[in-house]
Parts: sequence; structure tokens; C-alpha cells
Amino acid sequence: MKKVPPISQRAGNMQASPLRKLASAAEDRKKKGVKVYHLNIGQPDLPTHPDFLKAVRAYKPDTVAYAPSNGLESTLDAWSIYFKRNNIDFKSEDIVVTTGGSEAIIFAMQAVCDPNDEVLVFEPFYTNYNGFASLATVKLKPVTLSIDNGFHLPSDAEIKSKITKRTKAILICNPSNPTGTIFTKQELTRLVKIAKQYNLFVLSDEVYREFSFESKHYSIMNFPEIRNQAIVLDSASKRFNICGARIGVIASKNKDVIAASLKMGMARLSVASIEQQAMLPMLKNPKKYTAPLVKEFAKRRDVVYEGLKKIKGITFSKPEGAFYIVIGLPVKDADIFAEWMIKKFQDKNETVLLAPAAGFYASKGMGKQEVRLAFMLKEKDLKRSLELIGLALEQYKG
Ligand SMILES: Cc1ncc(COP(=O)(O)O)c(C=O)c1O
Repeated sequence: MKKVPPISQRAGNMQASPLRKLASAAEDRKKKGVKVYHLNIGQPDLPTHPDFLKAVRAYKPDTVAYAPSNGLESTLDAWSIYFKRNNIDFKSEDIVVTTGGSEAIIFAMQAVCDPNDEVLVFEPFYTNYNGFASLATVKLKPVTLSIDNGFHLPSDAEIKSKITKRTKAILICNPSNPTGTIFTKQELTRLVKIAKQYNLFVLSDEVYREFSFESKHYSIMNFPEIRNQAIVLDSASKRFNICGARIGVIASKNKDVIAASLKMGMARLSVASIEQQAMLPMLKNPKKYTAPLVKEFAKRRDVVYEGLKKIKGITFSKPEGAFYIVIGLPVKDADIFAEWMIKKFQDKNETVLLAPAAGFYASKGMGKQEVRLAFMLKEKDLKRSLELIGLALEQYKG
């Protein structure tokens, strides 16, 4: 047999999405006629606002040309207006349009880190940070949060103990996927102080900014003392329910970071011009589009909270934002429980697909008894899903 060269270590080490692990088992179960409620994925089930689709159809250029690498001028101006409405001061020159928030995170890591530099991250965290860190050859250094205090910050000493000579940045997700936690003004003040003391960048993933149900959400840009070290990673996907449009931004007052991001942007030429154009109405009048979504997800959050209260033996806090929650289960291994639930359990021919939370942690052995739920189902289906989890836990031996 002919020898072929091996793929890179980087590619080999990259983690496949842990959320996909049980997807094929769910498909097999559906083929057997079992109804599967998906609580595992973060794709909103609601229709995209017709204004966006109308704008796509109205786009009739002679040539579908590359947009400028930093974004269409009109789109950059509209993002600046959007930020202003949210009490965040970014001019169009502080912004580079990216292919979703995903590319913004990759640009940010590559802009501030050399290979093998470290980024502090609070676990459990959005699993794709692992993939982005692999692409950027960056090491994620986890600071573990606890379900016992609703995944709020541990002590300053605990955070500082993870900082080394190679640490370049603190990455936060606020509001958080997967926990639904929103850091308070005091917590952000503490992080800002630490970042100043150790001269670190703060990469702030604020893609769920509007989904703040309990209290006011503070952006990292609301802390002027850190503005030259702060980088906002943002996205139109969830707040405007246009995940497939693939529009995000990296934004910062740090001119070197934006210049570096633009160079990376130049290398990949451009972000889709049609979608940049079609989303202009949303950026200019954001509330019209975000308010109904926020209202719907707040209602679902309440349904989940009330449903969870009826299940014996689980631990959880009321999510403050986004549309996720991590709950603790009275089982030894949530991976095995989730697999059992999708492969074996049913009640009236129905079951639930869960996302085991271990995949949201970088530390080995953490999150073993936890799962993440995403509120992507209508109220009635959410209620039934929670009932099924309760019934499954009663039957499960493990
Ligand atoms: C916390 C967080 N950041 C970033 C993203 C990236 O989304 P997109 O690339 O669609 O903007 C997501 C998507 O689920 C997310 O949950």
C-alpha cells in the first residue's frame, strides 16, 4: 500500500463538536418512530423576520462583487448606530465585519496571541472556543465556575492563580452560553482590574447582549478604563435570528487589533455582500427585531425554570440571560444518562436529546453530572421535554 503523509497535529488534536456525538443515535431513534425533542442545539426554531428576506430579494446588483475586506461602508455605519443604541461607542473605523461571531473570535485570538500563548476562559464555555483555539494554536486555560453560585466568578485569587507569563487575554462570554449567567457590574469591574494589573486583553463575546432577563447587561465597553485592551466579539446570528446569514463583527478601540483584523480580513477577501446589505434595516432599528425574540425567550426561560422545579434531585439556578441552562443531575455520568435517554428511554413513544456538559469544560472530569438545555422548542414541547427528563430520572439506575 502506498504511504500517504499524515495530517497536521493541529488538525488531529481538534475536537469534533461534542453536541453532535448523539445526533446519529437520535436519527436512528426517529427512524424507529420515536419522537425526539431536541434540547441540545442552539438554533432558534422561530421564523426569520420577513424584512430580511424581502431585502435579500430586493438586492439586484449587476455584479455580485466582493465587499471591502472590513465590510460595506453602509454596514459598518449601521453597526456603529446599533452599538450607539446599546450605549457602546464604536465608530465604523473601530469595526471589521466578519463571517459570523465565529470568525471574529478566531481573528481576536490570532491578533493578540502568538503560538502557544494562553487565554484564560471560564468553564463551562461555548465549546467551539476549543476549535478556535486549535486554529490559532492558542492554549485555553480554564478557570472553573460552580453551579452552586449560578456560575458566577470565583475569588480574584482563584482567577489570578491561572495567569502565567504566557497569558495574553481573558475571554468572557456575557451573557453566557452555556450557563445563561450574566456577570454583574461588580464582577466585570473585578475582571477589568485584573486585566489592567496583568496587562491582558479582554475578549468579550457579547452575541447574546439583548437576551438579559433579570438585570441590566453591561458591555465591556462600558468600562472606559479598559477600552484600549477590550475587544468585542459580536454577531447578528441569534439576536436577529439570521444564523445562516453569517454576519458578525470584531470591534475595538485598539487600533493595532483592528488593523491586524483587517489584514486577516484582506486575506479572506470579503464577507458575503448580499447579507451585509440585507441586514441594514435590522441594525438601524434593532429593537423592532430583537424585542419579540427576547420576549419569547424570556417566556421560555420561565417555563423551563418552573418545569425544572418539579424534577427531584437536580440542581440549577434561574438563567439570567441567553437561552441556555446547565443543570446538575442525580446521576454518576451525564454522558451515559444522555446516551441511555436517546437510545433506550421512551414515554408514550417520546424522548429527549440532551447535551452532556462535560464537553463544555476543558478540565478533565468536570461537568460529569451536568447537562446543558437549550430553549429552542415551543412552550408546550418544552414542558413535555422537562416532564420526560423527570420520568427518565425516576427510571434510570446509574
Ligand atoms: C457564545 C457564542 N459565541 C459565538 C457564537 C458564534 O455564532 P455565529 O458564528 O453564528 O455568529 C455562538 C453561536 O452559537 C455562541 O453561542
